[in-house]
This record gives sequence, C-alpha cells and structure tokens, in this order.
Amino acid sequence: MQFIDKKLQEYCSTMSTNASDLLVELERQTHLRTLSPRMISGFFQGRFLSMISRIKQPTYIVEIGTFTGYAAICLSEGLTVNGRLVTIELDKEYNDIHESYIGLSPQKEKIQVEYGDALNVIPNLDQGIDLVFIDASKKHYQQYVELLLPKMAQGGLMIADNTLWNGDIIKEMSAKAKTMHQFNTWIHQLSEVDNLLLPIRDGLTMMLKK
Ligand SMILES: C[S@@+](CC[C@H](N)C(=O)[O-])C[C@H]1O[C@@H](n2cnc3c(N)ncnc32)[C@H](O)[C@@H]1O
Repeated sequence: MQFIDKKLQEYCSTMSTNASDLLVELERQTHLRTLSPRMISGFFQGRFLSMISRIKQPTYIVEIGTFTGYAAICLSEGLTVNGRLVTIELDKEYNDIHESYIGLSPQKEKIQVEYGDALNVIPNLDQGIDLVFIDASKKHYQQYVELLLPKMAQGGLMIADNTLWNGDIIKEMSAKAKTMHQFNTWIHQLSEVDNLLLPIRDGLTMMLKK
C-alpha cells in the first residue's frame, strides 16, 4: 500500500540513490521464492531505514521479524565499526534465503539471526540498544515496545512498520486495523517517547526515547 500517487512514488524512487546489486537480487528472489513477498520492506522503505541508520550510526540494532533479511541488510549499512545487529525470526522457512544473502552482505560478521518467538528472545537481549525495527506479529507491538524500551538509552530510536494498515485505519477498521489503531493510540500517549507517524509505504511510526 502506498499513500501517495503511484507515479509520484515511482518518481521519488527514481530520484533516490539505488540500493546495492545484492539488495536488488534479494528483492527479486523474495518475489520468486516466497508466498508472501509483500512482507519485504523493499526498495523505498529499505533506503529510508538505511538512511536513518547511517545518520544515527548505531552500535546495537535489534530487528523483530527477519523474513528474507532485506531490512536487516539495509539497517546494517549504518553500523559503527564495532557495531552489531540482532534480528529475530520465528519461522525457519526463510532461513535459506536470509542466511545466504546476509552471508554475502558487507556487514555479514555483524549480523546475528536469533530464532524463536520475539517475546521469548527479547528478555535475553543485552542492554544498550540504539535502534529497533519492529516488523513481526502486529498484535504484540505494544509488548515488544514494553520489553525493549528499558533496554534502550535516552535518544534510542524505535521504528514500527505497518502502523497505517493499508489505510484501513481511517476506513472500515478490520480486526487488524483495530489492533494497529489501539497500538497507535497507546504509543501516542506514552510519556517515555516522542512519536511521529509517517505515511511511508504502509505507515512507519518513529518513537524516540526521551
Ligand atoms: C513483515 S515480515 C518482516 C520483513 C522484514 N523486516 C523486511 O523488511 O524485509 C514479518 C516476519 O516476522 C516473523 N514473525 C512473526 N511473528 C513473529 C514472532 N512472534 N517472533 C519473531 N518473528 C515473528 C514472520 O515469520 C515474518 O518473517
């Protein structure tokens, strides 16, 4: 889902710096080899995540929901020399793809995939997280934030995907859109963060820890 005119979106993409050949091929393989290719962040959102990471220069990134590894590789582009990225995935169905493409990426030594339910894995993560990308089970977004916030320093940034849920959030309100609306309402009143909901792709909410 795009919230701007398709042609305008294409113009924005054309006028933005290309992704690496590796990411172009990973996006292509994701479409050829998975049943739900639309789960991938893809070119434009991927460039946004990369840009944010390169501005922030994090030493410790956490991603919830690896899928084929596209966003993990984009986010890793801003890691410091000693930085690391932990990405959590429940489903081993995608491990062939993400392991091979992460293995070919320039930051491969810094990226670690943890398998399991994020709700069980997050409590075992170290403190000091600088940047988080939340992109797994929509009904657990609030719990992800509650578990991750205490592990982040002041100025730590979280980004949550799909927070406009196909635009349904202001229309008929499907069950999933209601879940997202509840999350958006909760995060909007949460005193520990400043938030900004951006109409990029399916909605990206940025949350900055105060
Ligand atoms: C939208 S995809 C992630 C896309 C990826 N972040 C990207 O942009 O390329 C969501 C992923 O979260 C995983 N997932 C769903 N529930 C999960 C959970 N409870 N714990 C960990 N991963 C989960 C799914 O298997 C799926 O691969």
